[in-house]
Amino acid sequence: ARILVLHGPNLNLLGSREPAIYGRTTLADIHVAMEARARADGVQIESFQSNSEGGLIDRVQAAGAEGIEIIIINPAGYTHTSVALRDALAAVAIPFIEVHLSNIFARESFRQHSYFSDLAVGVISGLGAQGYELALEAALGHIRKPQ
Ligand code: DQA
Repeated sequence: ARILVLHGPNLNLLGSREPAIYGRTTLADIHVAMEARARADGVQIESFQSNSEGGLIDRVQAAGAEGIEIIIINPAGYTHTSVALRDALAAVAIPFIEVHLSNIFARESFRQHSYFSDLAVGVISGLGAQGYELALEAALGHIRKPQ
């Protein structure tokens, strides 16, 4: 794949998890929509969800060896805690777009700091599942850009 979409902990529960905050769209819905959009441009996309920090780090490290061109990541709870996942993204040096369903700046103060945003190409927060579609448009634009 040329685009990797990474989903952090508890995002496997999307659709039923705190729907007032995260909406009713499931991770499978999000993946199907992104896959269709990428296919229209002839671009391969892969999605990976893990509830474990090490699982996400291993996937990022593998992406470095696979030639993934851009990552779209919602680190979920690890957004606010994981130096190690940040370090993995910095290590592989693959550009990434950070996505949050909710507006993390309108929530508890502990959610208002991200260990990822200063390294990200850009950040989308608060637009629900649509945020992934917008991130994918940006990722496809990045791939089309002459290197
Ligand atoms: C989240 C926001 C995080 O604070 C939270 O821990 C999540 C999801 C979001 O998509 O809005 O699990 O990343």
